[in-house]
Amino acid sequence: MLFGRSKTLVGLDIGDSSVKIVELKELGKGKGFRLLKLGWEPLSSEAIVDGQIMDSQLVSETITRLMNRLRIKSSKPVATALCGHHVIVKRISLPIMSEAELDESIHWEAEQYIPFEIDDVNLDYQILEGSSLAGDGQMDILLAAAKKDKINDYVGVVGDAGLHATAVDIAAFAIQNCFEANYEFEPNQVIALVDIGSAVSTISVLHGGTSVYWRDINIGGNQYTDTIQKELNLSAEQAEQLKRGEEIEGIPYEKAQPIISAVNEDIGTEIQKTLDFFKQISATDQPLERLYLTGGTVQVVHMKESLGERLNTQVELLNPFRKIPPGSKDASPELINEMMPTATVAVGLALRKMGD
Ligand SMILES: Nc1ncnc2c1ncn2[C@@H]1O[C@H](COP(=O)(O)OP(=O)(O)OP(=O)(O)O)[C@@H](O)[C@H]1O
Ligand SMILES: [Mg+2]
Repeated sequence: MLFGRSKTLVGLDIGDSSVKIVELKELGKGKGFRLLKLGWEPLSSEAIVDGQIMDSQLVSETITRLMNRLRIKSSKPVATALCGHHVIVKRISLPIMSEAELDESIHWEAEQYIPFEIDDVNLDYQILEGSSLAGDGQMDILLAAAKKDKINDYVGVVGDAGLHATAVDIAAFAIQNCFEANYEFEPNQVIALVDIGSAVSTISVLHGGTSVYWRDINIGGNQYTDTIQKELNLSAEQAEQLKRGEEIEGIPYEKAQPIISAVNEDIGTEIQKTLDFFKQISATDQPLERLYLTGGTVQVVHMKESLGERLNTQVELLNPFRKIPPGSKDASPELINEMMPTATVAVGLALRKMGD
């Protein structure tokens, strides 16, 4: 029980474009959390490509720099996450059995659902409450499988940074965790959580608070930057600036606007497809009531509005600090505001209790 008494946990989100850290303090059972520290540090685009760590030294040095700048002790337990490139999450139905029986047979059962060698993955599962999609006598299980070599890559850079990763979560679950800590559910409500980062977008659908569908799609902020760069013949830096609505010499923002609108449409189409697919396989005919958006890309001009029109659904920005007030002067209002769109995964990770 080295960390047994620790009441603070550090969430470390290693994204394709930046590293984010959040430290929370738990006040006591049921008393909520306070935000102690938060910060981020950019990663150069070669460091991680599509979730693949290409330059582990660069990543671990960036983590160390950020930890030092935030003055977080390296002895604190850290939770980190893998994104969907390396993880498979499936809802499966099995005959009702005891937890012990399930524990025995899950490895064998999982084999038919996982497209990787079963010995190459770490398995985790959760029994879903409520009735089974497959009918009486069955129970539903959320099955997650992550490739061991990818877990090792991520745990490796955390270790090289001198930290101890006590938990490796899945980004989609961290997002859900963060949402649950900040929002209330209505029993029959269907909502979607959508995180649009730089390389990947994570979509989860929740029904009455239970995760019923989950998918990662390979779209994100890079799509805007790449298209602007190509179509206007600019450097990546210039394209990034234009995307953020910043002025660059000689090129008015108006030139980028139609390109940005077109990519907004493309991303909307991809999200729509995913949600349509969910509707087809879903057991409920309850309509999607609301979509909560998070991730750096939500800051693209008209992104949120465009998505709302496209999906004909209420779209709201997820506030990862909605019920987590600052508990130290390090958590300044400016920093909280700046990281509002990007801190969701890190907050969800920091909410993990020891031993989860
Ligand atoms: N003000 C802004 N306007 C538009 N886009 C922005 C703005 N700020 C950041 N972005 C974009 O947000 C993206 C980064 O978001 P985020 O930090 O959520 O991604 P990530 O976690 O690093 O990546 P991933 O989740 O794909 O691994 C980048 O594509 C970046 O260009
Ligand atoms: Mg991310």
